[in-house]
Amino acid sequence: MPKITAITPDETRHELDVPVGRALMTVLRDHGFELEGTCEGSLACATCHVVVDPDWYPKLSPVATGEHDMLDFAEGLTATSRLSCQIPVTEALDGLVITIPEPA
Ligand code: FES
Repeated sequence: MPKITAITPDETRHELDVPVGRALMTVLRDHGFELEGTCEGSLACATCHVVVDPDWYPKLSPVATGEHDMLDFAEGLTATSRLSCQIPVTEALDGLVITIPEPA
């Protein structure tokens, strides 16, 4: 099971064991993190926004057009922002570091 690090707005680092085959948004919410995910992964909101560590950003699957368009609506958009509902958890994500932005 891959381990990821989620950094919360108070800068606390949380080491998590996450199951493969589910969306990152889902596993973060299962761990109790505040990610609204209003549209449940249908690319109609940007409330599942996370900021990916710059070293990890290029290792993730590319941003598809629909995600790219919706990211424009994310609060606090950065160069390494992603929508966590669009990131499937795989073994390759072992060591991933993401930051969960302050809720809007
Ligand atoms: Fe709405 Fe990710 S949950 S775009």
